[in-house]
Amino acid sequence: MEKVLRIQNVPVTKLAEEYGTPLYVYDENAIRQKLKDYKSLFTSELFDTEVLYASKAFCIKEMVKLVNEYGLSLDVVSGGEIYTALAAGFDPDRMYFNGNNKSVPEMDYAISSKVKTFFVDNIMEARYLVERMKNEDHQLHIILRVNPGVDAHTHKFIVTANVDSKFGIAIGLKDEIAQLIRLFDESENIVFDGFQAHIGSQIFDKNAFVAEIKTMTKFMYELQTEYGIQAKTLDLGGGFAAVYTEEDTPIPLPVVCDTIISTCQAMKEKYNLPLERVMIEPGRSIVAEAGSTLYTVGFQKTTLHKKYVFVDGGMSDNIRPALYEAKYSCDIANRMDEDKTEKVCVAGKLCESGDILVQQAMLPKCEPGDLLITYTTGAYGFTMSSHYNRIGRPAVVFVKDGQSRLVVKRDTYEDLIKQDL
Ligand code: LLP
Repeated sequence: MEKVLRIQNVPVTKLAEEYGTPLYVYDENAIRQKLKDYKSLFTSELFDTEVLYASKAFCIKEMVKLVNEYGLSLDVVSGGEIYTALAAGFDPDRMYFNGNNKSVPEMDYAISSKVKTFFVDNIMEARYLVERMKNEDHQLHIILRVNPGVDAHTHKFIVTANVDSKFGIAIGLKDEIAQLIRLFDESENIVFDGFQAHIGSQIFDKNAFVAEIKTMTKFMYELQTEYGIQAKTLDLGGGFAAVYTEEDTPIPLPVVCDTIISTCQAMKEKYNLPLERVMIEPGRSIVAEAGSTLYTVGFQKTTLHKKYVFVDGGMSDNIRPALYEAKYSCDIANRMDEDKTEKVCVAGKLCESGDILVQQAMLPKCEPGDLLITYTTGAYGFTMSSHYNRIGRPAVVFVKDGQSRLVVKRDTYEDLIKQDL
C-alpha cells in the first residue's frame, strides 16, 4: 500500500499544502457517477420519472451545476437554496420548493423567480398560495406533502408510526385533503399535480420503500374512488443510505431503483391509477461518499481510560457525531502503509465535551502535523457547519482526473466579522 492516500490520483498531502486544513475534499467523478446512475437507472416504460437532488445535503454553486449537467431536477427548501441555484444558472422550471413553514418573502421570491412547483405542506400555506396566485399571470404547480405514517428513520421501519410528524398532512385526513385539492382545482393559476411523501433518511431496508409505495397508492386509489380525485404525480422523497462505516450495507442503487419502479408499476396496474410521473429526491446518497474531510493532527492526550488525538476542526465542520451519534471511519492519510496499533478517540478543538469526531478508531501512531481523514462527510457536513467558537468554515475542493480546484474559499477572520455592526 502507498504511504500517502490519493483522491482521484492527487496525494492528500498536496491538497493540504495547497489549500490548508480542515478541508472538504470531493471526488468530482464520484458525484458525476452517482448523478449519471440515478438518471439512467430510475426509468420506466409505464410513466415518466424524475430525480430531484435534495440540495440540503450539499448546496453550493458548483454542485448545482453538476446536477444541471446531468439533467436532474432540484429540491430546494429555502430562499437561500433557490438563490444559490439561480446563481448557478439552474432552470426554475426544474426546481421544487419544499418546506413546512416557507416564509412569505421566500414564497414571493420563489413565485417571482418562476419556481415551477411547490410542495405544499399545510392548509394555511395552501390558502396563502391560492390567494397569492390570483394576481399572477403564470401558473404554479402544486404537489401536496402527505404523511403516510411509514417511519423508516432507523435500521428498522414501522408502519403507522409518526402520525404527528410536523411534515405534511396525515393520509388519514382524507376529507381535509380532498377539500384542499378542490381549492386548488377551483383556482385558475394553480395546477394540482399529485402527492409527495418522505419516510426518513439513511434507510437500509428496501421494504420500507415498498411499504411507502403500497400505502401511498392505496391512498391515491381511495381518493380516486371516494372523491373522484386523480393524481398524476407521486414523489417518494429521498432517504437512500450511504456507507459511513463497514457496518453500513446500503441497498445497491440498481436494486433501489428497480424496487421502486417495479412496485410503482405493479400498483399502478393493480389500482388502475392515472399515474404519469414518479419522482424521488436523493440527497445523501449522491454526495456523502464522494466527500471526505482532511484535518491536521495536533496534540494528543492520555486520560485514565482513553487516548485522544486532537485535530484542527471538529463539530463546527461536522456536527453529525455530536447531534446524531453518527459514526465515521478515519485514517492517518500520510501513514496508510503503517499498522494500526493504537485505539484512540479523535476529538476536535471546540469548547464542548461532545466535540468528538470518532469515538473509537484504530490508527497507526501519529504525530502533530500528520493528516487525519474522515470519510463519507460529503452530505450534511458542509451544509450543517457553523461558526461556533468563531472558527471559519473550511474550504471545499473538487478533485478530478489528477487535478484539484477550489470551489468554496476558506473563511478568513475578516469573513467572521463581516456582518457585525
Ligand atoms: N426529501 C425530503 C422531503 C427530505 O426531508 C429529505 C431530507 C430528503 C428528500 C433527502 O434525504 P436523503 O436522501 O439525503 O436522506 N441532517 C440529517 C439528515 C436530514 C434529512 C432531512 N430530510 C443528517 O445529517 O443525517
